[in-house]
Amino acid sequence: MKSIAFFNNKGGVGKTTFTYHLGFALETLKKRILFVDLDPQCNLTAHLCDEETINDAWAPNGNSIYKAVEPIVTGAGDMQSAIPYKVPDRNIWVFIGDLLLSDFDGELSNAWTQILAGQERGFRVTSSIYRLINEFAEQNKIDYILIDLGPNLGSLNRAILLGCDNFIIPMIPDLFSLRGSQNLGRVLADWISNYGNAKQRVGNLTFATPNGKPIFSGYVLQQFNVYRTRKTKAYQNWGEQIPTYIEQYVINPLTAVDRNLSLNLANFQVAEFKNYHSLVPLAQESLKPIFELTNQDGVIGTHYQYVDNCRNEFRDIANYLTTIIQ
Ligand SMILES: Nc1ncnc2c1ncn2[C@@H]1O[C@H](COP(=O)(O)OP(=O)(O)OP(=O)(O)O)[C@@H](O)[C@H]1O
Ligand SMILES: [Mg+2]
Repeated sequence: MKSIAFFNNKGGVGKTTFTYHLGFALETLKKRILFVDLDPQCNLTAHLCDEETINDAWAPNGNSIYKAVEPIVTGAGDMQSAIPYKVPDRNIWVFIGDLLLSDFDGELSNAWTQILAGQERGFRVTSSIYRLINEFAEQNKIDYILIDLGPNLGSLNRAILLGCDNFIIPMIPDLFSLRGSQNLGRVLADWISNYGNAKQRVGNLTFATPNGKPIFSGYVLQQFNVYRTRKTKAYQNWGEQIPTYIEQYVINPLTAVDRNLSLNLANFQVAEFKNYHSLVPLAQESLKPIFELTNQDGVIGTHYQYVDNCRNEFRDIANYLTTIIQ
């Protein structure tokens, strides 16, 4: 079992869309998948569940991931269990996201201060979602936990990133995406070393805590234009700069803390996600990945070729990732 977070503090770079498609592609390879939607925007949830399911999950006795930590937020007690939603007829589960997750962020900020002060409560609160996810994954023989995060360097993302085994950075070849990655490695490296020191000082705890060593496992080049009016030449230019940026701003700060914090890859671009244009909203509406769309979902004419291409691309990506993340 491996947990992989998809993270970039720059928004709109295709994190959610890529995570979703990778999960379905891995399941086609006979893997059992647990999605975890930890972005309060809930885009991953909206791609997986119909409105009724989401409405039920958000109701007072619902099963969104926020429900598990609600007692901590309200001061009523410790984390309680929450059951992920199972996608019908698939080996795919999802811990449903919740807009109220942002309320947990403040609590996690206090918990971080407590961690640095060596207080057990800080570790208990910070590890709560980590424990919830891992317990379910172990009991249900999950192969890959795929975690979608919101685009920020906040306390929730810190708690989750410290608890995952691997992380992958989706990137668009543009100025904004590159700028966004500039503080990512440095901030993460700070979190990792502060957490490691605090954990050493606190000694043995009676509950499972993250080991706090997420491994950088490459980036995904997202080839869709957010700024559609600008032409591809600029994108090629930015694209060529990505490997240097990744080395300088992600790998170097991390490996300065611990040389095992990055996979040892010849090429850190582990996947490319092409522009699928109107098939992306069609996939979102149909609650399916692009490569499972049919004419009943509205696929017509030449779009079939894109559906097939997408299937082949994601089969290769999923196969490759299972070789580098084991
Ligand atoms: N491969 C693609 N081809 C075409 N459009 C895409 C592709 N990937 C994503 N998009 C579109 O780009 C937008 C942003 O994608 P997505 O929501 O996956 O990004 P994100 O990084 O998760 O955003 P956020 O930071 O808000 O969570 C979406 O509207 C989606 O429809
Ligand atoms: Mg997203």
